[in-house]
Amino acid sequence: MTVEDLRAAARHRVPRSVFEFVDGGAEDELTMQRTREAFARVEFRPRVLGGAEAVDISTTLFGRRMTQPLVLGPTGFCRLSHHEGERAVARAAASAGIPFGLTTMGTVSLEDVAAVGGPAAARWFQLYVMRDRGLTLELIERAKAAGYEALLVTVDTPVTGQRRRDVRNGFSVPPKLTPRTLLDLSRRPAWWMNLLTTEQLTFASVPAGEPEAHAAFIDGVFDPAVSFADLEHVREVWDGPLLLKGVQTVEDARRAADHGADGVVLSSHGGRQLDRSPVALEVLPEVVSAVGDRLEVLLDSGVRTGADVAAAIGLGAKACLVGRPYLYGLMAGGEEGVETMIEIFASELRRTMHLLGAPTVDDITPSMVRLREA
Ligand SMILES: Cc1cc2nc3c(=O)[nH]c(=O)nc-3n(C[C@H](O)[C@H](O)[C@H](O)COP(=O)(O)O)c2cc1C
Repeated sequence: MTVEDLRAAARHRVPRSVFEFVDGGAEDELTMQRTREAFARVEFRPRVLGGAEAVDISTTLFGRRMTQPLVLGPTGFCRLSHHEGERAVARAAASAGIPFGLTTMGTVSLEDVAAVGGPAAARWFQLYVMRDRGLTLELIERAKAAGYEALLVTVDTPVTGQRRRDVRNGFSVPPKLTPRTLLDLSRRPAWWMNLLTTEQLTFASVPAGEPEAHAAFIDGVFDPAVSFADLEHVREVWDGPLLLKGVQTVEDARRAADHGADGVVLSSHGGRQLDRSPVALEVLPEVVSAVGDRLEVLLDSGVRTGADVAAAIGLGAKACLVGRPYLYGLMAGGEEGVETMIEIFASELRRTMHLLGAPTVDDITPSMVRLREA
């Protein structure tokens, strides 16, 4: 019935270290908790007797119709959650009519992911700027050639946040065989067999993409010194929609607009990077009032229900991205699990809009949503 149900099912399907890699956040996980607390403070102010027979949850973003204002955001290592990984996610997104943003850290190559979605798929690609700018440019060109429409440049990961659960679990990719990890893995033989009998886990889009320690790879290959000048270079070679993902303040949203971005994703990376960083939902109204006329403002982190999406739309977002919700679905049941997650969001959003008296997404106005005092 809910994403929380999928999360509970996921826990029983994969090794604990894999579940916690997905589920966990950085340091004390304060930002992660605060994102959920903020959504719990949402109060809806419905319009009664609006008289709509049906509601339409579809929307248009960058000239593309989407069946609901939801994007499956970029997440690394999908093939750890389920052996079909990014292929399953791309198929589920395409058949549901919403975009999937493939990460640079994908475990299926960007060309292979593009091929499974079919001609109607809305493909987004997420870029980490690498130390080797030549390789970075190549990756952008490959994404363009493979039919990706929008580019998300993630800017909140100069280094990896400390994920304490991963350190304590001895998490690594591929799993290191110690007595503890062997015990963990032996409890999930089906997952383990699927992993062993399918193609090796690599960062399939990046040359020399043998994943070892996730954090070591990020810190070695991606450039911590990326600047707004780099964004301008990306802008020169990418003519489709360009979004900065991981913006957390009004100042940076303004700078994104000044340097040619078409949109920003307000995001704390799901509380996985800088702990105690702002909560996207709380920053949203201020950002929309400062740059809403120049940028499409999207939001992620902590979005778990269609009602959360309605709240974000009411406070000015054009759409929400989700990370963990579809990974819970993927762990719980592969492609079908992701489809279930998307359907859960659609039915919750439809019901919320009906009860709110908002027949279309554009009818969810700021006056319908307020945040109660903490
Ligand atoms: C397991 C995992 C891996 C992720 N990998 C990436 C990544 O490679 N690139 C990126 O920009 N964001 C990555 N993210 C962040 C997501 O794109 C998104 O910002 C975040 O998951 C949203 O929060 P939510 O999980 O609460 O929905 C990852 C998130 C998770 C949970």
